[in-house]
Amino acid sequence: MYDSALLEGDLFKGQETVWVLGSQGRIGRALTKKLTGGNRRLVTTDHAAVDIKNLDDVLVFTERNLPTVIINCAGMSSAKECEENPDEAFRVNALGPKNLAIAANHFGARLIHISTDDVFNGKDETLMNEFSEPTPITVYGKTKKQGEDYIQAFMQKYFIVRSSWVYDVRTIAKIEKGLRKNSLTITRDQIASPTSKEILTDFIVELVNSYDYGIYHFVSQGFTNRKSFIEEVAKILHLEEDFSKSQLLNQPSLHPKYALLDPFILRMKNYKTLPPWQEDLKKYIQTYYKPGRIRQ
Ligand SMILES: NC(=O)c1ccc[n+]([C@@H]2O[C@H](COP(=O)([O-])OP(=O)(O)OC[C@H]3O[C@@H](n4cnc5c(N)ncnc54)[C@H](OP(=O)(O)O)[C@@H]3O)[C@@H](O)[C@H]2O)c1
Repeated sequence: MYDSALLEGDLFKGQETVWVLGSQGRIGRALTKKLTGGNRRLVTTDHAAVDIKNLDDVLVFTERNLPTVIINCAGMSSAKECEENPDEAFRVNALGPKNLAIAANHFGARLIHISTDDVFNGKDETLMNEFSEPTPITVYGKTKKQGEDYIQAFMQKYFIVRSSWVYDVRTIAKIEKGLRKNSLTITRDQIASPTSKEILTDFIVELVNSYDYGIYHFVSQGFTNRKSFIEEVAKILHLEEDFSKSQLLNQPSLHPKYALLDPFILRMKNYKTLPPWQEDLKKYIQTYYKPGRIRQ
């Protein structure tokens, strides 16, 4: 059992320390890269080092390292895994953030938590802003909402960032591979704002120095479906012919149909204009993607 008398974290008092959890995940890895260097101290943990389900582990690590900012990139992010194992999804996506909120509150850290459009039911074409009522329908969405609720109940200095369809080079590589084989599996019935890992993590880095707490929707502008997203990737990679020849195998979606996040708060704050999703995608591919180089 956690016993605060056994531990001392005075070594790091007064020093800005950022703790990234889920550092081996897609978003966590990118953030770790961006936060490395500079004047601040960076500590990162993967699943093996600190299990967010375990309050004692979280408290011990927090007291030893005294982070001033905790960034939670850990989570059960596969909707399929969540449906198959709802109890574990609750432990990771709901109890995990609760534990972090308790630790952050106790040791005076700020918390940045990444959430999702799946907290909304997505049944119709209504835009959802930060004041819209979350009524999730999937296990993933329900457990992510419970995580958000716990954070809001157990602390004040939090940022909850909801995003959509975050893609990285692996996403693009998978699409390129499918296009070249002329066979792609696409998830039908899904409309969202694809958002590059790059602009999302840039925004999270900005929050590290912010005290403007609250919930934020952060997505590229505009909405599309999976088929049009793939078509746009094909256009940028000059694989239009492969796209037109490709067999598109439909698979049902495990996510709500409409993921229409409105970044209302950022707009109210006159935050810089978020790029249209096509522009974000083109810039991301041209900057970070080397066609044909990634093996799946
Ligand atoms: N990708 C998206 O489109 C998207 C969109 C909106 C929000 N988000 C949210 O952003 C967060 C990160 O997403 P991602 O795409 O980077 O997911 P990811 O690649 O699946 O990374 C999640 C990481 O969390 C770790 N993890 C799982 N259970 C843990 C536990 N109990 N304790 C500590 N670490 C644990 C995983 O480690 P193991 O693999 O070793 O278990 C993995 O490294 C998630 O919370 C997700 O809900 C993602």
